Amino acid sequence: MSAAMLTPEVIGRYTKPGPRYTSYPTAPEWKLFSPQDYAQTLNRFGASCESLSLYIHIPFCVSMCSYCGCNVVIRKANARVGDVYLDYLEKELTLVQHEIRRKPLLKQFHIGGGTPNYLQPDQLERLMQMVSAHFDWDPEAEIAIEMDPRLATDGHLDALRTLGFNRISMGIQDFDLKVQEAVNRVQPYDMVDNLMQGLRSRGFTSINMDLIYGLPFQSQASFEKTIDQVLALSPDRIALYSFAHIPWLKSHQRLIDPETLPVAAEKLGIFLMARERLLAGGYDAIAMDHFAKSTDEMAKAYHSGTLYRNFMGYTLKPADEYLGVGVTSIGFLAHTFAQNSKDLKGYYAALDRGELPVERGLVLTEDDQRRQWVISQLMCHFRVDKGEFLQRFGVNFETYFEAEQDHLAQCVAEGLITQDPTVISATALGRLFVRNVAMGFDWYLRQAQGHKQFSSTI
Ligand SMILES: C[S@@+](CC[C@H](N)C(=O)[O-])C[C@H]1O[C@@H](n2cnc3c(N)ncnc32)[C@H](O)[C@@H]1O
Ligand code: SF4
Repeated sequence: MSAAMLTPEVIGRYTKPGPRYTSYPTAPEWKLFSPQDYAQTLNRFGASCESLSLYIHIPFCVSMCSYCGCNVVIRKANARVGDVYLDYLEKELTLVQHEIRRKPLLKQFHIGGGTPNYLQPDQLERLMQMVSAHFDWDPEAEIAIEMDPRLATDGHLDALRTLGFNRISMGIQDFDLKVQEAVNRVQPYDMVDNLMQGLRSRGFTSINMDLIYGLPFQSQASFEKTIDQVLALSPDRIALYSFAHIPWLKSHQRLIDPETLPVAAEKLGIFLMARERLLAGGYDAIAMDHFAKSTDEMAKAYHSGTLYRNFMGYTLKPADEYLGVGVTSIGFLAHTFAQNSKDLKGYYAALDRGELPVERGLVLTEDDQRRQWVISQLMCHFRVDKGEFLQRFGVNFETYFEAEQDHLAQCVAEGLITQDPTVISATALGRLFVRNVAMGFDWYLRQAQGHKQFSSTI
């Protein structure tokens, strides 16, 4: 895809609010969900489950990065805060297991945040003991943690090694000081270099770095330097996220002056430059916004069509069922989304009452499940195999998606996809705008045109 093909007209056509499809139906469609609803979901899941993925959310951060779109609670570093939170996580795990009524096999465990390494090394150890008390470990389990380099100590690295973590992800975003100052996250290159050396010397082999394009004061020239610095650090994987600017949902983002943000064409230019440089630097492009060394398992999974997507991002394990534990966390079990209370006080209060701290959720209809599969295929593989749809759901793709044929024809006419009787494939242009292709299958979006809940697709 050459930048020259991306005329202002093309960019303008596709720049609109749209979901990132870490879930379908997307979170705004979920309804109030009671502890009893969730207990039923867990019962149904427990009746047939063998294994699952577990996500635990640690919401605390010591300061607020002004671009942040995650669910965070700002607290000064304080071990007591972590201790209390762990007490509540333990209560939730006990309630959940009471409803599942068995000890399933964990094939994937992910601690995310906020900042999971806000917890001290001994607290991480306690967390692992709690998890091991409620689940059995698949010997091949992926055990992942998101880290903020600014809070990472040697003690953390030693503990992560001893506790069996085999996937480390760290937030970088941008190395340029002006950008870092503008987003209230100053994190020098040397700090990250030291952390990388500490991780490599302890034998960690799967290290990811998160970057964001579209931040204030970013330009192609400035971000090119960041990319070169990242290449010098040689992480195994890189996530290159589009800045989700959603000040109507995240009020602290109002601290960012919109005038300092690159406009859509510039933002896309930054992405394309970064993409080219990463490809030239020995990385493979993986689905929408990830890159991995060609020798890395994620690249292999992508090329062999066995990459999956859920709230934890892209994953190598079939992520059909996952349990979310902790404030605001999301799970998907027995074709049902469930999200915990987003407010720490409310989360604690529910657990004090002995109730599952769930707030919202959705039991997927048959139609939801079909669309969920199609959208996930587009987001992970840039293609939809119509024969596989028939095999899975027992319905002909063209017949079922009759109302979507106009959208598909338009996507073909605009060069976003090609299609024949067996398969839909995104073109190079369509890969850049895969969210726009997927949006045509989103039944809920069609009912509410112009939804302002989502970030821009560029
Ligand atoms: C929970 S954070 C990572 C761990 C740790 N809190 C840190 O920042 O280092 C997950 C990642 O989400 C991404 N992120 C956060 N807010 C975002 C936004 N508004 N748009 C796009 N990506 C965002 C960042 O790349 C961040 O590293
Ligand atoms: S980007 Fe990470 S450290 Fe910054 S506020 Fe968000 S979760 Fe916390």
